[in-house]
Amino acid sequence: MQLLLGIDIGTSGTKTALFDERGECFASHTADYPMSQPRNGWAEQNSEDWWNATLAGIRTLLYRSGASANAIAGIGLSGQMHGLVLLDKSGAVLRPAILWCDQRTGAECAEINRLVGEKRIIEITANPPMTGFTASKILWVQHNEPQIYAKAAHILLPKDYIRYKLTGEFATEVSDASGTQLLDVPSRAWSAEVLQKLNIDAALLPRIYESPEITGKISRETSDLTGLRAGTPVVGGAADNAAAAVAAGAVRQGAAFTTIGSSAVIYAVSDAPGVDVLGRIHGLCASVPGKWTLMSCTQGAGLSLKWLRETLNFTESYAEMDELARKIPIGSEKLLFLPYLMGERSPHPDENARGVFLGLSAIHTRAHMVRAVLEGVAFSQRECLDVFRELGTDVSNMAFTGGGAQSTLWREILADLYVCNVFTPPSAAHGAALGAALIAGAGVGVFSSVPEASDAVTQTKTAPTHPDKGRAGAYEPYFELYKSLYGALKPSFAELARL
Ligand code: XUL
Repeated sequence: MQLLLGIDIGTSGTKTALFDERGECFASHTADYPMSQPRNGWAEQNSEDWWNATLAGIRTLLYRSGASANAIAGIGLSGQMHGLVLLDKSGAVLRPAILWCDQRTGAECAEINRLVGEKRIIEITANPPMTGFTASKILWVQHNEPQIYAKAAHILLPKDYIRYKLTGEFATEVSDASGTQLLDVPSRAWSAEVLQKLNIDAALLPRIYESPEITGKISRETSDLTGLRAGTPVVGGAADNAAAAVAAGAVRQGAAFTTIGSSAVIYAVSDAPGVDVLGRIHGLCASVPGKWTLMSCTQGAGLSLKWLRETLNFTESYAEMDELARKIPIGSEKLLFLPYLMGERSPHPDENARGVFLGLSAIHTRAHMVRAVLEGVAFSQRECLDVFRELGTDVSNMAFTGGGAQSTLWREILADLYVCNVFTPPSAAHGAALGAALIAGAGVGVFSSVPEASDAVTQTKTAPTHPDKGRAGAYEPYFELYKSLYGALKPSFAELARL
């Protein structure tokens, strides 16, 4: 039996999992680590934490499962997008990684517009400048930490740092690279024009591949550290959402899914590059060669629920929190939540936006706050889906994956707000780690292509959650009010940021 190893470098932890050719999970391990917030709106992580979590994961899997390292045919990486990792010429990390949800780069985004041109940056990168994306973070380090930037010899994304540690190679692949704002998204290659206008030396960037291409092999040193076989191929893999797409069966034009992890994403596959010139949703490359995607990103989804749980010292599990929220009526008895704890990207790109509970009353309990968070995140998904619909992507059957998909209440709220069937494919339980392993399978010949790999594991269907007309109608007035709040509060968010 051939096995495939998937490694997903997430925001709350790294998941390492071994799968067989049918996508059955042989063994899995998750190691958590913290995210530091040195200032309001900043978000950083130690890249070494990712590496230690990866080492612990691989060692535990091999030991616990008793699997022979010789049976592992290929390894795929996936990870949180957009993060900036800077290495010096000896490969040492120069500063903590600046993450996807960091919002410090509003001024640098304006600068990118000035340097490249508002229209031109969208033509090339399929997105207006985004605080979440990597390019503005690079400019921030250029301006604010010039002594560090002067030492930089390599710029990497989170999962590509782990690739370097595993193989010694500096490489990335198109789905993650398209979230840097340095890629020519239609042609799937670094943009010489953007690099030159932003004064970024192309030599700092890794070599770029398609997701299933082999980018390197497990080094002798990593083999000694982990027990993996030296020479095991490591494929490009994919950005976490583009990897989760493969596990959810979203690999062909028109297929779409919602995933809720720390962020919440709606991802729709297309045969041609797509753009929302207003920047409400992103245009990116998919992990399937020759395909692109439109993708929305709500910054604080699972992150908001985790924040609430930790801040209010819930001792209940997430499943028990779900049960508490289920007892509260739709609208949380007039309590609304705006999930902007880490600023926002979709559909309101605004680094100054911050979270809001609107309507707090002495009647409200912790359970109301949980329900309001679930509803607020779901309202944000509906606002995003309306943009997809406006741009011509309609969805009648939505897969729902990620940690958030374990909440049956969240699935029900999404079905009612999307007014379409929402289902969680069994293969989705291992999300991005499975997607990365499947991409590896396509790269090493276990499958003939990424879509074939996806088809191999997504044939089992689960009963969908159907929208309920009555409940859908009950959400509408709250959703209408929710939609009006961002515009009303935008000047106040800006003022608060100025104070
Ligand atoms: C997508 C995004 C997040 C991260 C973290 O644009 O920033 O989904 O990939 O998961």
